[in-house]
Amino acid sequence: MASLPFDSLSSATLTACFSFAASLCLLYIILHEALAPAHAHFLALRRKKWRLPAGPPGLPLIGNLHQWRSARRSSVTLLPYLTSLAAYGEMTTLTLGSKTWVLLNTPRVVNEIINKRGSITHQRPPMPIASDLISRGKRSVLRPTAVWLEGRRVMHHLLNGSPLKTYGEWQELESIQMLASYLFQPEKWYAHHYRYANSVLHRIVLGEGLEKETAEVENLQRVIAEFLRNINANIVDFYPQLASLPKFLQFWRRGWDKMGLDHCEAFMSWWAPVKKACEEGTAPPSFVRDALLAKETRYTGSDEEAMYLAMGTISAGSDNTRMLLNTLVMAALCHPDAMTKAREEADAVCGNMAGRLPGIGDIPKMPYTCALVKEVLRWRPVVPLVPQHQLIQDLDFEGYCFPAGTEFLINSFPVAHNVDGPNVFWPERWMDGNEASVTQGLWVFGGGRRVCVGYKLAQTQLLVAFARLLYCFDYATVSLARSSF
Ligand code: HEM
Repeated sequence: MASLPFDSLSSATLTACFSFAASLCLLYIILHEALAPAHAHFLALRRKKWRLPAGPPGLPLIGNLHQWRSARRSSVTLLPYLTSLAAYGEMTTLTLGSKTWVLLNTPRVVNEIINKRGSITHQRPPMPIASDLISRGKRSVLRPTAVWLEGRRVMHHLLNGSPLKTYGEWQELESIQMLASYLFQPEKWYAHHYRYANSVLHRIVLGEGLEKETAEVENLQRVIAEFLRNINANIVDFYPQLASLPKFLQFWRRGWDKMGLDHCEAFMSWWAPVKKACEEGTAPPSFVRDALLAKETRYTGSDEEAMYLAMGTISAGSDNTRMLLNTLVMAALCHPDAMTKAREEADAVCGNMAGRLPGIGDIPKMPYTCALVKEVLRWRPVVPLVPQHQLIQDLDFEGYCFPAGTEFLINSFPVAHNVDGPNVFWPERWMDGNEASVTQGLWVFGGGRRVCVGYKLAQTQLLVAFARLLYCFDYATVSLARSSF
């Protein structure tokens, strides 16, 4: 009788094969338990029936990380990806390494989770690269709640009535420079937006206009861009437990440490002269002089923390405002009728060519222009994914059961487009008496306890710029051959 191949294997070889397979299985289970997020554990000690919203299938150990990383390479791939995820329903679950992300796709669930349950969804998750190394643990927008609170207390000054009045006057002043630059170099409209957004923030935060050398300004812009590019981008940030390995095993630290030091030095070159002037009593009014370093404020943070607070506010405020002004130009080219209406409103308030520009005092008389600002914010949200709001305790919500540690993110595009006629540019949809409040009905500034602390400043900054630009200029496309003006 012919012998089977198995017969030729010795029992020792078979045992070795089985032990190898068993070791592989065991290794997989150990790795899975160490790296997978709580809801996916096989052997959870406090096993609970976690129930999460649906989401795209992922791969073992990495989940949807490969999809996320290829989508976030550029906004051309990111926006369609984020929009497609909304097809799963009001919420979509992604497993990214050790993290559970739940994208919030409608205003209703954003309100429920981020606002109404803000007392348990205010945490920022650990980010060993973007926060601990690149930001030396001090950029407010990524700080965990315990160390974030003190800075946030001081930043509330930016939302107060009387400083806002002074800041409004500075916004009007800086906008005149932008109008003049438009007049002389219209082809560089985007550069004028950048300068306006930055100048206003510098004046408000540091007390000085943007009078630095171009190289210094470009260096700051590089630092801001580098930071933004590295949020939710690095593998270690998706497996934060790797940061607990002994330091000599963390081969990735060196490069990011270096970047952190470089950012710190760049910030210091702006901060040090202002701090010195404050100490010598020669500083002009500013957020730094009158709030952050003022004795009455009793800020308890270190000097470096104060610096990050000031420079972080400049970074957060200037980049978003700049992008929104660029979006206005896009809207003006696509929807000239809406711009004409805004100009007619300004004409009615200021008189056609009467030599007066619309200003902050005119806001109550310019509901259409206010609504236009909100429609531009809604039409193309400039922050596609609002940073994670992490859950600090288990949550039962509408049949779902989320473990503590779940990270909720506002999926801005589907949320902003959850309206009648989402693709129609129609400022009138906002004319409900709340048009002058950019957070009413809009989630582009985030929400809950972490809501953008500059939203009131952004509101006037955008309104002054929009009203004045549309009052003074027409937007039209010109062929490149004729664009030398
Ligand atoms: C179009 C304009 C703006 C948009 C769309 C925007 C959006 C945002 C968003 C989405 C967040 C995160 C909120 C969250 O986690 O829930 C944020 C945070 C922040 N924004 Fe804005 N922002 C704008 C303008 C400004 C301005 C003008 C300032 C400056 C005064 C500013 C200062 C900040 C700061 C300091 C934070 C971090 C707050 C914290 O750490 O607690 N933003 N912003």
